[in-house]
Amino acid sequence: MVHQVHLMKVLAPDVARAAKPGQFVIIRIDEQSERIPLTIADYNVEEGSVTIIFQEMGKTTKQLATLKAGKELQDFVGPLGTPSDIEKLGTIVLVGGGVGVAPIYPQAKAYKAAGNKVIAIIGARSENLLILEDEMRAISDELIVCTDDGTKGHHGFVTEMLQKLLERGEHVNRVVAIGPAIMMRAVASVTKPFNVQTIVSLNPIMIDGTGMCGGCRVSVGGITKFACVDGPEFDAHKVDFNLLMNRLAVYRNEESISLKKHECTCRGD
Ligand SMILES: Cc1cc2nc3c(=O)[nH]c(=O)nc-3n(C[C@H](O)[C@H](O)[C@H](O)COP(=O)(O)OP(=O)(O)OC[C@H]3O[C@@H](n4cnc5c(N)ncnc54)[C@H](O)[C@@H]3O)c2cc1C
Ligand code: FES
Repeated sequence: MVHQVHLMKVLAPDVARAAKPGQFVIIRIDEQSERIPLTIADYNVEEGSVTIIFQEMGKTTKQLATLKAGKELQDFVGPLGTPSDIEKLGTIVLVGGGVGVAPIYPQAKAYKAAGNKVIAIIGARSENLLILEDEMRAISDELIVCTDDGTKGHHGFVTEMLQKLLERGEHVNRVVAIGPAIMMRAVASVTKPFNVQTIVSLNPIMIDGTGMCGGCRVSVGGITKFACVDGPEFDAHKVDFNLLMNRLAVYRNEESISLKKHECTCRGD
């Protein structure tokens, strides 16, 4: 796949059989690894496989990227989370930013299969970070591509194209946005004045993924929710994005130390 974004097919027949769009897995590479959540980007019941797409961010995702085909993961727990509420509504706009295009893909397929008109707006910082463009084109009635640096499609953010789409009078029944918290917050601001129902998939830090530890707590409509069991999808117009972004940054020092240690071990320092 593109630079620093990797696609991995994992043989996990039980997870593949039970998986639904919107759900995720929690993986552990080996006994020493931390647990990290990754969205189920695709699944194939006949093959018994589950596809994950991940971006190298820190220690664990960089270590995961070094695994060769045939290796085993210590844990691959799932499917977790509440599945997306897929129904026939009319026109659905799916907005994916960066690696957020991966979880948008199974939803686009499911919304299309349910009889909806599917408009997809996908974006990345640059063309070399844009994922699943052909796959999204194949299942969308309309696909709009954006890059922050203008190397492909619209030069600018996905939110600018969403604004234009709503302004052109397209009757939109639901917007689903998945990507960095800052992008999802911007999508919520664009759709609010148009009164369009907007769903976002939140990405707080998760530990157990079963509602026990409280690590993934978010505030939605002033009520505390656990994204791993109550979500990860919520009404975008009710989410406290500032709290989410603050909590995502809490362990930045530790994450940076952990990555440095990992890089030293890899170099043999
Ligand atoms: C429900 C859900 C689904 C996700 N799906 C995907 C996906 O499909 N593809 C993808 O590339 N990423 C996905 N993420 C984000 C992914 O889990 C983080 O990028 C990963 O945990 C980073 O770990 P790291 O050790 O490589 O980086 P670190 O350096 O440890 O962290 C980098 C950043 O990743 C986030 N992060 C770190 N640890 C966790 C954790 N345990 N849980 C959640 N976020 C964390 C924090 O924002 C942190 O600042 C998802 C997150 C959630 C909550
Ligand atoms: S990850 Fe522990 S409660 Fe959600």
